[in-house]
Amino acid sequence: MHPSIAEQSVEQLGGRLSVLTRQKKDHIELDELLQRLEGSEGADQERVLLDIYALVFPHAFAEESVLWPVMRRTLDDGEELTLAVEREHQEVNELVTRLETLEHGTLERSEVLDRLTEVLREDVRDEEDELFPRLQSVVDRWELRRLGLYWEIVRRIAPTRAHPVVARRPPGNVIAALPLSIVDRTRDLVDAARYAARVDPPALRAVSKGLTGAGHALEHLPFMKSGEDESTRVESGSVGSRTALVAAVAGAGLLLVLFSRRRR
Ligand SMILES: [Fe+2]
Ligand SMILES: [Fe+2]
Repeated sequence: MHPSIAEQSVEQLGGRLSVLTRQKKDHIELDELLQRLEGSEGADQERVLLDIYALVFPHAFAEESVLWPVMRRTLDDGEELTLAVEREHQEVNELVTRLETLEHGTLERSEVLDRLTEVLREDVRDEEDELFPRLQSVVDRWELRRLGLYWEIVRRIAPTRAHPVVARRPPGNVIAALPLSIVDRTRDLVDAARYAARVDPPALRAVSKGLTGAGHALEHLPFMKSGEDESTRVESGSVGSRTALVAAVAGAGLLLVLFSRRRR
């Protein structure tokens, strides 16, 4: 079996365009961000978290929709291997959703942050030491480059926030990608403006909260959960699918109004 991708050169990983080189680069960047997160507080901590979300969620979403299906098709134990990392991704989504509701300076918030850091590091180790060396043993360098291209394209249009209800597998996550991404990336712009200001402007906070609600409501549309393994499923809770549909249509309308005004 190949050694951990942490120990391989760019050439051994299949070149600059290989999915393995791209993965390793993101994992190094994540490690730097997690070091910045340690000991950060207030708006500074929120800014680091925004950078972590923008890196981690599209990265993982593209793994779930492009890479893990290939591993399930090509490896005998692909199901078991990918399910383990899907559970880690699911926990990250649930922890970040909890973090959205927790005040700064509370014990619960620091416990959630510690666990988040721990799971993110475990996920990187599982992928670099186990999953990717296994993938390397069944596909050639041209396939690694082709996967690198697909993974990169999906990553660029994928959601940037936590979505614990959406399926961790196709077809649900593929259907969910674009609508959730539009809501999330609008929220990123609003939140970046909030944390750049010295005082959190109440109007922007309300817009951000509305977009958070719209994103979570969208997740509850039934087809976005299709393909999910039972063990990574989160119950729909109190949001019914009709409420979700109404919220989704209202959210899309709001975004259309915002974007058409910006263009004028
Ligand atoms: Fe990764
Ligand atoms: Fe991952």
